[in-house]
Amino acid sequence: MKEIKIGLLGCGIVGTGVVGLLQENAAILEEKLGAKLTLKSVAVRDPGKDRGIALAPGVITNDFQQVLTDPEISIIVELIGGYSPAREYVLKAIENGKHVVTANKALLALHGQELYEGAFRKRVEIRYEAAVAGGIPVLSAIKGNLAANRFASVLGILNGTCNYILTRMTGEGADFAPVLKIAQELGYAEADPTFDIEGIDTAHKLSILISLCFGTWVTFKDIHVEGISSITAQDIDFAGRLGYTIKLLAIGKRDGNRIEARVHPAMVSATDPLAGISGVYNAIRMTGNYVGTVMFYGRGAGREPTASAVVGDLMAIARNMLVGAGRRTAPLGFLDENIGAVPIKPMGETVCKHYLRFSVVDKPGILAKIAGALGENGISIKSAIQIAKSGGESVPLVIVTHEAREMAVKKALAMIAAMEITSENPTLLRIEDDL
Ligand SMILES: NC(=O)c1ccc[n+]([C@@H]2O[C@H](COP(=O)([O-])OP(=O)(O)OC[C@H]3O[C@@H](n4cnc5c(N)ncnc54)[C@H](OP(=O)(O)O)[C@@H]3O)[C@@H](O)[C@H]2O)c1
Repeated sequence: MKEIKIGLLGCGIVGTGVVGLLQENAAILEEKLGAKLTLKSVAVRDPGKDRGIALAPGVITNDFQQVLTDPEISIIVELIGGYSPAREYVLKAIENGKHVVTANKALLALHGQELYEGAFRKRVEIRYEAAVAGGIPVLSAIKGNLAANRFASVLGILNGTCNYILTRMTGEGADFAPVLKIAQELGYAEADPTFDIEGIDTAHKLSILISLCFGTWVTFKDIHVEGISSITAQDIDFAGRLGYTIKLLAIGKRDGNRIEARVHPAMVSATDPLAGISGVYNAIRMTGNYVGTVMFYGRGAGREPTASAVVGDLMAIARNMLVGAGRRTAPLGFLDENIGAVPIKPMGETVCKHYLRFSVVDKPGILAKIAGALGENGISIKSAIQIAKSGGESVPLVIVTHEAREMAVKKALAMIAAMEITSENPTLLRIEDDL
């Protein structure tokens, strides 16, 4: 039986999952491939660390260069994460004519173009299914069975940590900070949760999805990013009263010859299937001009689902190698020479309904002043809720606007701030009724 040798760089959560899968499912992989996938080397910083996995003597090493230059190894799996040294290692693997599988969304979101072009030059494959939504095979679907479509939009819930926090806040009426603490205790949020809760991880994944759906280079830096750390129990409560659920959304939409690329918390109709995605689950919804709207749902992270995606990529490369097919599909699914620059629509030009929550002293005339500032900027009010309290305390005043351009809303908010009638900065949330 033919044998394809693999070098693994990094053996943490996902790496140990890949080792386990290759061992536990070895027989079924061979049945499907007609070849053996052999893990020849596993490079880590600390070879002495107990990883709870059993490897044959000599497999584990801290000599990354030796793995990258081993002529017997045809596929390198990069599961280190971050930019450096992952970028240098992947470039070196490509330079040495090795195929690459990676789960590293941060790396692809910033350096994808360099890596894909390098792989194109060397005629090797670079596959990265695990980089977006872990076990959900959404990238393969975009490049494969959905490839016949011209996509109008790609959007969804791409970060399990944020979705877990928002789901618990919604279910329990709790504020952000205590729920983040619980998520950390349960291992759903990292000790430093910034990447997840500030929307950065979601934006990394969105940049990959947009590049694949629209055939353009969009890096993380092109995307408007806001996280969930300023969402309050009060906003979640108001969202519920208005018939909405708050979710951290990644949105990529074609608008004429421009693309909207944004990550922010948004109010989603409680009847939209996205509102029902709870806990650590992810969902991605795409609209193509022939398929219509399709939605993928599943576990977006974790040892086993992510390992499933990584090994699926290994099998796809192995299948191509076995028939000498080389690289059948370009890394973005478009021929490299047809990938162009599509301008990103500035966030200020985004049009949607807005939820605005002000903290005001309950006195006559305040609502009229706020409505006046909105009206002056061409924004009409759909509904307003004010909770009355006695004693001159600050009370919440919630206004839902009809569709309005974001820059007009921001201008109105600046005018309202200058009136000194609010006791804290207003909260602005976009209402995504038309996903
Ligand atoms: N965890 C998930 O659920 C998940 C889901 C989807 C995608 N991903 C992606 O998968 C990748 C791996 O994630 P992970 O959660 O498995 O990470 P992890 O548990 O932190 O493991 C990282 C591994 O890389 C090694 N490493 C770290 N820094 C290194 C350096 N500077 N030089 C050489 N080796 C280094 C570590 O070696 P030592 O063990 O010796 O310290 C460790 O084995 C990341 O790109 C991540 O974004 C993860």
